[in-house]
Amino acid sequence: MKKLFLFFCIVFFACQPKKKDITNVEIGERTDPHSFSEPDKAIVKHLDLELRVDFSSHTISGKATWDIQNVSEADSIVFDTHQLKIDKVTLNGLAEAAGYTLGRENKILGKALTIKITPDTKKVSIWYKTAADAAALQWLTASQTAGKKHPYLFTQSQAILARTWVPCQDSPGIRFTYRAHVSVPKELMAVMSAVNPQMRSKDGTYTFEQKKPIPSYLMSLAVGDIDFKEIDARTGIYAEPSVLQKAAWEFADMGKMVAAAEKIYGPYQWGRYDVLVLPPSFPFGGMENPMLTFATPTVLAGDRSLVNLIAHELAHSWSGNLVTNATWNDFWLNEGFTTYFERRIIEEVYGREEAEMQEVIGFNLLKATVAELGDKNDDTKLKGSFENRNPDDGVTDIAYEKGYSFLRLMEEAAGRNVFDAFVSEYFKGHQFKSIGTEDFVLYLQKNLIARDVKISDKVLVSKWIYEPGIPSNVIIPSSVKFRAIDSIIKSWDGSVKAGRLATKIKSTNERLYLISALPDSLSTHDLSLLDKDLGFTRSENTEIQCAWYTLALRSNYEKAYPEIEKYLINVGRRKLVLPLYKEMVKTEKGKKWAREVYLRARPNYHSVTFNTIDELLDDR
Ligand code: BES
Ligand code: ZN
Repeated sequence: MKKLFLFFCIVFFACQPKKKDITNVEIGERTDPHSFSEPDKAIVKHLDLELRVDFSSHTISGKATWDIQNVSEADSIVFDTHQLKIDKVTLNGLAEAAGYTLGRENKILGKALTIKITPDTKKVSIWYKTAADAAALQWLTASQTAGKKHPYLFTQSQAILARTWVPCQDSPGIRFTYRAHVSVPKELMAVMSAVNPQMRSKDGTYTFEQKKPIPSYLMSLAVGDIDFKEIDARTGIYAEPSVLQKAAWEFADMGKMVAAAEKIYGPYQWGRYDVLVLPPSFPFGGMENPMLTFATPTVLAGDRSLVNLIAHELAHSWSGNLVTNATWNDFWLNEGFTTYFERRIIEEVYGREEAEMQEVIGFNLLKATVAELGDKNDDTKLKGSFENRNPDDGVTDIAYEKGYSFLRLMEEAAGRNVFDAFVSEYFKGHQFKSIGTEDFVLYLQKNLIARDVKISDKVLVSKWIYEPGIPSNVIIPSSVKFRAIDSIIKSWDGSVKAGRLATKIKSTNERLYLISALPDSLSTHDLSLLDKDLGFTRSENTEIQCAWYTLALRSNYEKAYPEIEKYLINVGRRKLVLPLYKEMVKTEKGKKWAREVYLRARPNYHSVTFNTIDELLDDR
């Protein structure tokens, strides 16, 4: 059986037709279901952006000049656009207007911009303007910022929103370098996923350069009342002045994390590693924009308990930014590897016990997601199938935690040293390239499994990648500290002895685990005793708030309701508000309340968050 499998793999590998290296994707041939571009005909290599950011009209306008390679002497090049107004196109820097067409609008993908070119076209310039409601952009009023004095703009390009602020070949399989000149109101600072200024310019113009080729989803821009504070020679924080000190304290270990990551998987390739702390409406925990991670302020817990977010985004500097998923169906390659690497960094910097707790919390999330989706659901497969759907549907714990569990299993089967050497080689061999699931499987067969066939029996690669549910050979993580909490809960006589838990259950991980392990049937009396003891309702730790408020809603614990309203209005991070709305819509009364709160909360949310909540609260 084993031999047969190996034989099959070798035949499969040998039979792969040799493909021309027409894109910067070297292995395999693929088309991206979420991009109109046709990179095998003509592909972009470099971008020169000239942008003006206008807060009064909520628009960005300017010119994108692309250096292109007309690979197959094509007569056109195709870009992705969505909600963009195209004013003019020229070729090779000439004044004469070039011909172009904008295709029919697809609700998810936007419109193809097809520009007529000739075999000797080297540059394509597109004059354009964004829509006031461009999906990538969030324009914040001064009152939505920490300082309350200046407006703020930030972008979120992943997965397919870059095309709403820059006309581009918006596929993770296509890479380019960029330079940008950005003009903003002169009292504000601009930063990008590139080499950044550390001080404001006098006239509000900024120049950026990203010399490493990146895919479009890693383009980013933020403009606001932003200051910089160094952590060490290579790392630092950008944030609004009133948030800067707190953020720099919270993330003081950033330099240590970079060093730990390098020790595990080789040199950090991007120069500086800085973090921009955004206003609370940022829709994600973090976004791995190269050189400058974008982060939510909701991880500033005051005790460094949520810094795994930094480990995660930093890990993407290898898994994702250096070696990139070829399409959004291969998203698990980005997030699974990153979750695995994140926990390795945590283990290196904070020790095994800390990493163990995070593994258990992750595994419980995985079980809950599979239970919610159903273990036969195609969306529980690692290899996704999101064609004709929004790739956002793939942002679940399957990619993160099933991906993690699969890699953890391989580590166990191969042994850590062998597996680390394999992963380091994988990053090195594919740096600044993209890779799809099938190519990864071939690479794995050739470079890990063929050397030790036992691994194949232990791991069951195709079951993990192509079948739904959680395979039975999953490694179930456990944590000594959590087992102690299990026994506290078990020995409960139904009522909580006030004042006893706070001293025993201190850390955020333990408190999160306690909340998740509590029975659903707790009385209001029990909940208020717990609350008195551990201060959950008044917690300022957003992860604890999310877990506790979800439980409070499920148990009709009305004492928490005023805090829940405040929280939903202030926090815009999708992962932290969605579970609450989901709980609220379970009853008619709850749904009515959810709609009332949402009316006030929605103006604070980025499109990524409000599109998800709109769908949930929409009855049609
Ligand atoms: N790249 C993701 C965020 C993302 C995924 C944006 C898909 C758009 C589409 C980022 O690295 C991430 O995973 N963030 C997590 C961090 C957490 C796992 C520590 C988040 O935002 O919660
Ligand atoms: Zn991630």
